[in-house]
Amino acid sequence: MDSRFRTLGEFIIENQASFQYSSGELSKLINALRLAAKVVNHEVNKAGLVDIIGGAGDTNVQGEDQQKLDVLANEKFIHTLKNREIVCGIASEEEDDFISINSQDKNHQNKYVVLMDPLDGSSNIDVNVSVGSIFSVYRRVTPVGTPVTLEDFLQPGINQVAAGYVIYGTSTMLVYTTGHGVNGFTLNPAMGTFYLSHPNMTYPETGRIYSVNEGNYVHFPQGVKDYIKYCQMEEGDRPYTSRYIGSLVSDFHRNMIKGGIYMYPKSNLASNGKLRLLYECNPMAFLAEQANGKATDGYRRIMEIEPTELHQRIPFFCGSSKMVEKAESFMAKYA
Ligand code: AHG
Ligand code: MN
Ligand code: MN
Repeated sequence: MDSRFRTLGEFIIENQASFQYSSGELSKLINALRLAAKVVNHEVNKAGLVDIIGGAGDTNVQGEDQQKLDVLANEKFIHTLKNREIVCGIASEEEDDFISINSQDKNHQNKYVVLMDPLDGSSNIDVNVSVGSIFSVYRRVTPVGTPVTLEDFLQPGINQVAAGYVIYGTSTMLVYTTGHGVNGFTLNPAMGTFYLSHPNMTYPETGRIYSVNEGNYVHFPQGVKDYIKYCQMEEGDRPYTSRYIGSLVSDFHRNMIKGGIYMYPKSNLASNGKLRLLYECNPMAFLAEQANGKATDGYRRIMEIEPTELHQRIPFFCGSSKMVEKAESFMAKYA
């Protein structure tokens, strides 16, 4: 069968056998995430028509203004996962603390936890620019049958069993990995069905796009400044093109397809950058590596970093392997 005719539902069933500890639980969880993606997509697409754009009047635990759609997407993801009784715990960028889920008939028998950024790129909601959702799945480390603890969420990215994102763009796509490459599915909105439109997605080894918020340039470390100047220099295939949407999912998605580097460095304004290790960087790093790309904090592999807190931030450099290595070489001069 032409792969483009394969639905996400069929793909999940076909690939269940390749999971190491296949009991069907992870497949069911991916199915629940697929449903959540459709539910949030439905809400996002109504922005502008119903009263869901603008601020919710609250701030999250990280002191950021919550948008109505942040709150709505968070609720939809949590409800969808809770109702399916498929995870034992959830941590979200929009929640102060992790949520322990005790299914009525299962008494903490589920073995997976989900960490997520329900709505990424909030600043783009009001202006009809693409946003996304990010998820990351781990096997719990505490014993099944007991409530989850913080330990179950503070795992290094290398322990992820699945990760992915949904991009609500010109079309809606769900892109994910279970450690066997990256596959992208496009939603046919008339059918409500995701189809395998992008099998085996990979980063070109190098590219010509750099994505960074250059408004912060004067506050960046010298190594980053030097690398940006290198990107702009006229030599060989340079100058590179600058593209920055301001929603990690969208910037990542474009760079993976076209070849490029995404950077959110530390700065004098934010000593650890802005992006969250658990909800944004680890899932994107897992996807990047599965797609032949690279993700580091400028010095260390993102997925090997031992997290110390739920909402921890970390500098992030992610993209085509050759480009990330080049950026690292500039930063190494000032290490
Ligand atoms: P979120 O909307 O979940 O808070 O994440 C926004 C993040 C990320 O998606 C984006 O790349 C970055 O913040 C943009 O930050 P700046 O506006 O500082 O460039
Ligand atoms: Mn985000
Ligand atoms: Mn968010």
